[in-house]
Amino acid sequence: MISATELDRAETLRFDPLTGIIAGRAPTSRYLVDVGAVFADRQAYTQLVVKNPLVYEVTQVEEHNGDGQVHYGLGIIYPGKVGSEYFMTKGHLHEWRPAAEVYIGLRGRGMMLLEDERTGECRAVALAGNSTVYVPGYTAHRTVNVGDEPLVYWGILSSAAGHDYGTVGERNFRKVIVEKDGRPVVMDRDEFLRELEA
Ligand SMILES: [Fe+2]
Repeated sequence: MISATELDRAETLRFDPLTGIIAGRAPTSRYLVDVGAVFADRQAYTQLVVKNPLVYEVTQVEEHNGDGQVHYGLGIIYPGKVGSEYFMTKGHLHEWRPAAEVYIGLRGRGMMLLEDERTGECRAVALAGNSTVYVPGYTAHRTVNVGDEPLVYWGILSSAAGHDYGTVGERNFRKVIVEKDGRPVVMDRDEFLRELEA
């Protein structure tokens, strides 16, 4: 039997898929200075950080905790680039490494970088409106806006997952997504860094 306590968790939230805002909830805003260390082109970063544009916002719904509960959040990444590297999230692993996550694209054109922490294998997959991405456990994930309008998406995961930003912050992802001839291209970070130095 479902207890009244469980039914008390039932809720309706209203959200706007165009703005990425959940009614009545304040987003966490990440400006370039907050995200900066992840971008490869340090010269382009130094030039753009003077303006410190808003890169992305996330509104987390995390009040249900404990066995069987889920957390979910609405993200919006604004269009833009640092040099030729598209605006993106910092990226993270889950503290509870086996925890998977489902991303649901609502608007825009994006990609996700997925990197298996155990093997180092890194893949890019598409995340756009009307599509989902399954992020397996043990996988660092970063969302990238490769379009010219905001990229809006949900992420849904176990309440026990937790976020580990530090590990990704230290070593970053092995691949970058950069614009070449007006199109997004996935490159090895080391190769891109060599291009920047040349
Ligand atoms: Fe996640």
